[in-house]
Amino acid sequence: MHLAVTVEDARAMLGLNARAFAKILEELGETTHETPSGKRTLTTVEPSTMRAVRGVRGENLGLFNGKKIVAFQGCKGGIGKTTLAYNVAVRAAQYGNRVLCIDTDQQAHLTMCLLGKEAGKHCWLDIFEERVPLAETIVPVGEHLDLVPSNLRMAIAEKRLGNTIHPKRIVAQYLTAIRDNYDIVLFDCAPALSSINHAVAFASDIVIIPQTTSRLSLDGLELSLDFLRELREDFGMAPEVRIVCNMFSQQETPSLRTLYSLMEQHQGALFQTAVRRCVKYPEAVDYERPLFLLGYRPSIAVEDLDALTRELLGLGGLRHGKNR
Ligand SMILES: Nc1ncnc2c1ncn2[C@@H]1O[C@H](COP(=O)(O)OP(=O)(O)O)[C@@H](O)[C@H]1O
Ligand SMILES: [Mg+2]
Repeated sequence: MHLAVTVEDARAMLGLNARAFAKILEELGETTHETPSGKRTLTTVEPSTMRAVRGVRGENLGLFNGKKIVAFQGCKGGIGKTTLAYNVAVRAAQYGNRVLCIDTDQQAHLTMCLLGKEAGKHCWLDIFEERVPLAETIVPVGEHLDLVPSNLRMAIAEKRLGNTIHPKRIVAQYLTAIRDNYDIVLFDCAPALSSINHAVAFASDIVIIPQTTSRLSLDGLELSLDFLRELREDFGMAPEVRIVCNMFSQQETPSLRTLYSLMEQHQGALFQTAVRRCVKYPEAVDYERPLFLLGYRPSIAVEDLDALTRELLGLGGLRHGKNR
């Protein structure tokens, strides 16, 4: 997957005008080419260049607060875990962060999104069974973007995990071998209150629970929060929980009602960015490309996922302004 962005996008993402951007590129000795008119141009900007520019500006390349491991969880399916994990991962890589995605859902949707039909050979089950070290399961997807794929065999991983001595600690233990190679590790989890999800949450700094705008989805949120509270009770520590409102529509009363209720009850945990309902998400899957590589814009989906990524990375001021 080629993750480069256009020069205009790169400048907007970095908040730099043309002259300041060109000056930093020159300092970096970035190769530019001459057009017949003698004008020097650079047409696309690769993740490594974005990283170098951010480095020159002394920016922190990890997550906000130096956190690193993020899991998209929730006991319900269809709330946007995979969609958000996928597009945030791609966008974070485009910002120059080194990203590892880990798919632990046996449905392997994230794997299909990132690798298409050529799913990887290994999955977490092989790691649990100690057949291969984590590093060997990693498949490169694009510059600064890697994946530990999943496949149907993950269906028995839950049973395998039950046979280990410290099931809750096991994911955290395996991650230590590779965590320094990445700025961000993003887990996409199956919709379940399972031992694997508990172990992933235990290993995570942040658990993000997407919340759609239906009453039933709110019930699911309370169950997921209880599930994470157990970790605090059992181990005295638990990841920070963040909630993101997904499939939001200002025109729909239930949508507004859900958002207000989230703001009332979970203000501190709620992302500023509410992700609006947009047909581009399923469309992007049809085209087998992430939103940010669809090649046309603007769309509210690109705006919202960029804003969400910036918020997660602590990149300050939402580029497109608050959307709620
Ligand atoms: N903001 C959104 N607007 C429109 N469709 C969305 C949005 N977020 C997710 N979807 C769609 O909803 C469906 C379920 O999303 P998915 O990410 O697979 O959920 P989960 O991983 O929680 O099961 C997918 O078809 C996806 O394209
Ligand atoms: Mg999913």
